[in-house]
Amino acid sequence: MKLAIFADETGWHTRQLQAALRARGAGGRCVDLADCQVDTGGSWHGLAIPGFGRELPAAALVRGIAGGSFEQVTKRLTVLHALRERGVPVYNDARAIERSVDKAMTSLRLRAAGVPTPPTWVTESAAQAQRLVMRESAAGHALVLKPLFGSQGKGLQRVGLVDGVHVPLPPLDKAFGGLAYLQRYLPPQQQPGFDWRVLVIAGRARAAMRRVSEHWVHNLAQGAHSQEAELTPALASVAEAAARALEMDYAGVDLMPGPGGTVQVIEVNGVAAWQGLQRVTPFNIARALVDDLLDRKLAQAAGSLQA
Ligand SMILES: Nc1ncnc2c1ncn2[C@@H]1O[C@H](COP(=O)(O)OP(=O)(O)O)[C@@H](O)[C@H]1O
Ligand SMILES: [Mg+2]
Repeated sequence: MKLAIFADETGWHTRQLQAALRARGAGGRCVDLADCQVDTGGSWHGLAIPGFGRELPAAALVRGIAGGSFEQVTKRLTVLHALRERGVPVYNDARAIERSVDKAMTSLRLRAAGVPTPPTWVTESAAQAQRLVMRESAAGHALVLKPLFGSQGKGLQRVGLVDGVHVPLPPLDKAFGGLAYLQRYLPPQQQPGFDWRVLVIAGRARAAMRRVSEHWVHNLAQGAHSQEAELTPALASVAEAAARALEMDYAGVDLMPGPGGTVQVIEVNGVAAWQGLQRVTPFNIARALVDDLLDRKLAQAAGSLQA
């Protein structure tokens, strides 16, 4: 059985997945979505996936989608949507990836499902955003301004009342695409501050770590370090609710301690890396992902074909 691992770069993660697939008697071929084509004059399915000839993969794991123009990214996602429509299980599904990449949709889904998350505003009006920052600042709050499609803690800024000083909203044009995604800042409950990353697979929280840093942005890519963390029932249930709200096969959920001992969801990742988490957890993450794909998702797809 041959699967596609969609990745824009190969390395530790793709090797882990390939090893886990081999252990199950399957093979994983790394393919860059940028190299996949639509060819409606070719095979019945109209797709050209390098390395698969006229066949389709038995299933696909999405490990990375390169950024590009709006048109290029749309085509890359179209390939994933088309695979699903042709009966190929895609892990995570393109719809789930889209929901989680769009931080506004994530916030709306979390809110609708009653999952604790800080108040969030998204607007194209710089004047409206400015008024909001003033109002929140007057109430003693800072806000985090995030790129809508951001990742790895890149490009985040605090505005409003930051360490007792009023920080105004920067221009929204370049880095922010003319859009303000503003989320109320959760101040650290202890020093140094931390957040949690919880991995949820098939609806169950399976592993957790703390990401600790002197800086308020706690991504490992920004220099935070990972520590083992206990997966308490409260942490697990909030992370599981977040993954459910976004209908993810698996998810890397970012959480932080909030007011009154609450656990708040900051972000849900649908193409989550796990090298940092694997360093502090005994449980084999690649194996768990592959097992879930083969034993649940692929079996489900086969069942619905027969029905
Ligand atoms: N509302 C917030 N309050 C406090 N810290 C935040 C908030 N939002 C983000 N952060 C910090 O910034 C990090 C990155 O934010 P996140 O929304 O996860 O974006 P990214 O997609 O870049 O990881 C978080 O892990 C957290 O440490
Ligand atoms: Mg994050």
